[in-house]
Amino acid sequence: MTRIVSTHSYRGGTGKSNITANLAANLVMMGKRVAIIDTDIQSPGIHVLFGLDPQRFRFTLNDYLWGHCQIEETAVDVTSSLVTEATRLPQNAGRVFLVPSSVKAGEITRILKDGYDVNALNDGFRDISERLQLDYLLIDTHPGMNEETLLSIAISDCLLLVLRPDHQDYQGTAVTLDVARRLDVPQLLLVVNKALPAFDFQELSGRIMSTYRTPVGAVLPLTLDIVRLGSGGLFTMLYPDHPFSASIRSLAEQI
Ligand SMILES: Nc1ncnc2c1ncn2[C@@H]1O[C@H](COP(=O)(O)OP(=O)(O)O)[C@@H](O)[C@H]1O
Ligand SMILES: [Mg+2]
Repeated sequence: MTRIVSTHSYRGGTGKSNITANLAANLVMMGKRVAIIDTDIQSPGIHVLFGLDPQRFRFTLNDYLWGHCQIEETAVDVTSSLVTEATRLPQNAGRVFLVPSSVKAGEITRILKDGYDVNALNDGFRDISERLQLDYLLIDTHPGMNEETLLSIAISDCLLLVLRPDHQDYQGTAVTLDVARRLDVPQLLLVVNKALPAFDFQELSGRIMSTYRTPVGAVLPLTLDIVRLGSGGLFTMLYPDHPFSASIRSLAEQI
């Protein structure tokens, strides 16, 4: 059975795409077959972290939703992008595929204006899981509440709710948690990102856990090296010994 894990946040820029991409990389290191679907149709971007040039997209999620192709035809094998000077893939490594969303302005506006059949998206999740024999299907989402987000939350085995230590994020997280509880998501984990390294992470984690009565899967530090990298690669593969990478590995084991 494929485990479906959605990464979501109420507000934008919390680090969803970076966390999803790095989690996928660590699952591959653990021998898992993984696919990521970029359901951030309005502002796709996770392909950038895998160094994937949009010119190389044969089909995108948009094409699938318009009935132009099968879902598995949109998947690009990006496993080779995990290899860095600091990290080699073990012999039993898995594979990671990416289903990108279109970055063409006309295609983005068309799908936003005309909408699409949400059931097709649901069928796509099921079909790609079967046809690529996935252990994990990771869904990277657009912030806030919209139709594809609600669908992805409803069908997830695990929801990672990303928040920064920020009062706007705190309120929004309560709203999303409320929705996730109503939809009976089996595993809910809060992921705190961009925590100032000077903070007491244990205290922060304990406080957030008791406020939301929800487990905290990881507290990830604000890291200048990630800012410097600027989504130009997979941080955990470039800096495997960094505390950020250790926390991502621990999160990969929890999901
Ligand atoms: N822990 C972190 N420390 C510093 N910068 C980060 C961290 N996590 C993410 N970022 C940066 O924040 C920005 C938004 O990250 P991204 O993963 O695209 O978020 P989202 O998908 O939620 O919009 C990117 O520029 C990324 O490099
Ligand atoms: Mg994103």
